Amino acid sequence: MTAYHAPSGPLRGTVAAPPDKSLSHRAALLAAMTDEPVSITGFLDAADTNATLAAVEALGALVERRDGSLVVRGPGLRAAARAERIDVGNAGTLMRLLPGWLAGQAGGRWTLDGDASIRRRPVDRIAAPLRLMGARIDARDGRLPPFTVTGAALTGIEYELPVASAQVKSCVLLAGLLAAGPTTVIEPRPSRDHTERMLAAAGASIERKGDRIVVAARDELELGSLHVPGDPSSAAFHAAAAVLVPRSRIVIEGMGANWTRTGFFRILRRMGGVVAGPLEEPGDGVPAVEPVCELDVCHGPLLGTEVEPDEVPLAIDELPLVALLGCFAEGTTLVRGAGELRLKESDRIATVVDGLRGLGARIEATEDGFAVDGTGGLRGGVLEAHGDHRLAMLGAVAGLASRTGVEVVGMEAAAVSYPGFEADLAALRG
Ligand code: S3P
Repeated sequence: MTAYHAPSGPLRGTVAAPPDKSLSHRAALLAAMTDEPVSITGFLDAADTNATLAAVEALGALVERRDGSLVVRGPGLRAAARAERIDVGNAGTLMRLLPGWLAGQAGGRWTLDGDASIRRRPVDRIAAPLRLMGARIDARDGRLPPFTVTGAALTGIEYELPVASAQVKSCVLLAGLLAAGPTTVIEPRPSRDHTERMLAAAGASIERKGDRIVVAARDELELGSLHVPGDPSSAAFHAAAAVLVPRSRIVIEGMGANWTRTGFFRILRRMGGVVAGPLEEPGDGVPAVEPVCELDVCHGPLLGTEVEPDEVPLAIDELPLVALLGCFAEGTTLVRGAGELRLKESDRIATVVDGLRGLGARIEATEDGFAVDGTGGLRGGVLEAHGDHRLAMLGAVAGLASRTGVEVVGMEAAAVSYPGFEADLAALRG
């Protein structure tokens, strides 16, 4: 589907941040790992997270969809049902977290596969630690889906992550719940800590000291109920649109304020964007809660900035928007240490650079990021989404702020994480 996004007048009004994708995946998985029913409010109804619900159903969970909420029942930590093949669709988070649970089910064997984009995303990063714990993983060409997980009696390990990846960290921590002895994950840099917080809320013994996270084995999880706050990665598109379109002022409600997810808003503030609202301050430890905030965002002039490698995991999915903001900022915007972008739903260094260049941007790809020279605006044109939801939404926001508008080829990809995106944007345009 091709969608044209015309230059826009001021954005005004209030938008509710749609439910968080990362947290919805984790809520469905952890609820399925719990014996007692878990009620989840605010679950994201989108292609990615529905793949996770289908997966836990295939593994023996009962999912009851009620008005505005879900109830998930079992099968419990050690009782995942046998299933021939699990289809993860487009969901990298499902593909990398679920094997942590399955690896600890001795005697079970599952094959995971997904769409064309998933088939180019590496799984050797989870296979390596799971093998060290005792599981067997067989992947196509040794590193790609489809792949098979054969569960075993696991042993806890101390594992230093080669890349700052919340998905790999989470996979090892979930396997740690089922392993003999403690499991320690050492992070090169902090990444989103939703799994740790939700495990703490579920009564697991989990601690963080500096860059080390230690989890102990557990007989069962206890959750009761969970609420999923709004997604900062989705809200970031509206925030960027409000900053870029003259005379805009919007309020974003119900957004998760967890400091490991709000790096983009700190970068935006540093560029001069007016973003008022309480974001959580960086801290140590594992809080058992996910804070929520309301943000007030206004149009204003921007200055170029340098995004350092330490900031990258805290803003990883929003870096395409940093490139867009850079086109409108004074001076140069540089992102370094973001080679992981090449392994997302598309190669986001290539697709963002090609996409924005086609709209008139002065942007260069580097091996691990990009450099943008601000030219005060963007002409407009055609942007190909390459089946990547964040590219599709980037094109729409670029259109609003451009001189001639942007035609996004493949706009339907937005439904992977934010099915109501175009309607919410249209409401802000009035
Ligand atoms: C996610 C972690 C990040 C992020 C992805 C969601 C998660 O991936 O890009 O969209 O929910 O844990 P990596 O762990 O590969 O960095």
